[in-house]
Amino acid sequence: APIDQSGVWRYRELLGFVDTTVHKAVTLREGNTPLLPAPPAARYGGLDALVFKHQGFNPTGSFKDNGMTCGATQGLRLGMRRVACVSTGNTSASMAAYASSAGMTPIIFLPHGNISYGKLAQALEYGALTLQVEANFDQILALVRVLAEKTGIYLLNSVNPFRIEGQKTIMVEMLDQRDWQVPDWVVVPGGNLGNISAFGKGFRELLAMGFIDRLPRFAVIQAAGSAPFYDYFQDRSEFRSIPDPETLATAIRIGDPVSWPKAIQVIDDSNGVVESVTEQEIADAKAIIGQCGIGCEPASAATLAGIRKLTAAGVMAPDADVVAILTGNVLKDPDYIYKYHTGQLKTPSSVPIVPTYGNAPIVVP
Ligand code: F0G
Repeated sequence: APIDQSGVWRYRELLGFVDTTVHKAVTLREGNTPLLPAPPAARYGGLDALVFKHQGFNPTGSFKDNGMTCGATQGLRLGMRRVACVSTGNTSASMAAYASSAGMTPIIFLPHGNISYGKLAQALEYGALTLQVEANFDQILALVRVLAEKTGIYLLNSVNPFRIEGQKTIMVEMLDQRDWQVPDWVVVPGGNLGNISAFGKGFRELLAMGFIDRLPRFAVIQAAGSAPFYDYFQDRSEFRSIPDPETLATAIRIGDPVSWPKAIQVIDDSNGVVESVTEQEIADAKAIIGQCGIGCEPASAATLAGIRKLTAAGVMAPDADVVAILTGNVLKDPDYIYKYHTGQLKTPSSVPIVPTYGNAPIVVP
């Protein structure tokens, strides 16, 4: 695809690592994602108004495409023939598509049994060599970082700085769509903490260049069973990883996030907050986002669940100007959806989730 159709390369002057008049950009028309007003979700969240920036509208259905276009471009420029990642599903789906489209071989390491079928299906269909490993995300990432170093395979996890460059443009595009009006809050789910690090970098640069005159407050929302970043902010003594992270929001089932030092900086610089939400809260918020006619995957719904808690606690004002990032498409995890609406969803510790906003199908005999 031509780069002038990309919502990332539109801001190429901010992507100083590559000259796209010399090097070929690997693009699939990523970005260009909408800002969607969602009155029912606003009411549920205790706000007068709420807007979602929906990254699920990307070519492979998640915000990973914004970063992957830059990571893959750099890989191609370096002459890499093989690229690899460890993933809870979305990074792998994205990397598979971008690598294959550029003629590089995608090699993917997945925690066996803990990624959604939609994401696994994408990796297979986009032509990736797909390895399902009997370990969790954090354990596999530690191994693959060493493996990639030794074998000269290009690693495209969010430790890759070029991915972060691409992801920062999500904030640039959002501001562009709002005529450069900085919102009071930007709310984002936190897993490996690459996204929040990228958003902070984007805002810092725009501030330094004089495009904006202040930062928004960032709110990072984690799933309660996988919340080392939330835990850190309770007493700020030391950063402790969680050996056995759990959550049905498998995208953010991460106990040892690599980007935590950068992410702490972003929270501190922006007078931000970190919240954690339960499985039931995520599931209910997700159903509400669905009823807005919008929909998203479980990890994304942590945003609305977090907003509801932050307004109830008086941290976020009801009349605040809030943009929440929906990180992935509704079709990424259909299994979760069917189980929720039919009352079959259970937390990792087997507590039934009540389909409070359920809409079960009626079977006609
Ligand atoms: N939401 C979704 C849908 C994700 O896929 C991820 C991360 C996150 C939120 C968290 O973002 O890691 O930047 O804090 N998914 C990664 C993956 C880990 O492998 O696809 P983060």
